Amino acid sequence: MSSEMIEFIREGAVAKIRLNRLKALNALCNEMMEEVARILQELETDTAVGCVILTGSDKAFAAGADVKEMQDNHYLDIYKNDNFETYHCAIERFRKPIIAAVSGYALGGGCEIAMMCDFIIAADNAKFGQPEITLGVMPGMGGTQRLTRAVGKAKAMDMCLTGRMMDAREAESVGLVSRVVPLDDLQDTAMEIAAKIAAQSQPVAMMTKEAVNTALETTLAQGIHFERRLFQSMFTTRDQKEGMAAFVEKRKPHFTNR
Ligand code: CAA
Repeated sequence: MSSEMIEFIREGAVAKIRLNRLKALNALCNEMMEEVARILQELETDTAVGCVILTGSDKAFAAGADVKEMQDNHYLDIYKNDNFETYHCAIERFRKPIIAAVSGYALGGGCEIAMMCDFIIAADNAKFGQPEITLGVMPGMGGTQRLTRAVGKAKAMDMCLTGRMMDAREAESVGLVSRVVPLDDLQDTAMEIAAKIAAQSQPVAMMTKEAVNTALETTLAQGIHFERRLFQSMFTTRDQKEGMAAFVEKRKPHFTNR
């Protein structure tokens, strides 16, 4: 599934999508994001894949939407195409666990697609930002919403209104990223984490993801009710029987995703 702009790597039950448009610092042009969307669609039904990593280059995860592609657009063009819903937002619709492994710049749409993933692991050289205001626009792929939920109003306002960048340490301290590792360790760490997730029961991982995401969309009481129903439903699965039997028998579980 690799192409000129995307490097696709499979390691066991983990699939890695590496944005590979290095000369443009992985600016998210439509063609590249159409490919990402197509690959994700295929991975959704590939039962051998349990977790996906989205990553970029050492210098740039992605420096944002492609400004050169966008600059001459008119409102009606992008309204009719529903930018950026069609391709760029395919990541938020992906139902299996997906991790962003970020090194270098994650700016504008780059920061936004990282936040669409389930969590972000950052290299120590990562820089996050929503600099759209310096281009005379504002974030358009969910930045004002996800950043605010991730880091709170004060930091989100600061970032979106000034366009300043946040380094990896600050991003970790405010909860934008789950871990920071040395640049040289980023890919191995992401692969280790993804392999661990992929070794769990796939439907259980998917439902867990759905439940955590629901926490941001609903009241506490409704969220807890939803979680309880999902938890109860897991007792219809073989994986619940296997997971608990393996614990009691002091062995590793072998999940079959059923
Ligand atoms: N779109 C298109 N091309 C881009 C780009 C982008 N977002 N970011 C970088 N590039 C291109 C540059 O134009 C340059 O191309 P040329 O060699 O043909 O001139 C190449 O990538 C290398 O970039 P620089 O020479 O600028 O590299 P640098 O190391 O000096 O600076 C940088 C790096 C600070 C990230 C700088 O490139 C930059 O500020 N990029 C733009 C960041 C930005 O504003 N992103 C927001 C985009 S709008 C958006 O994303 C909207 C949304 O919410 C969806």
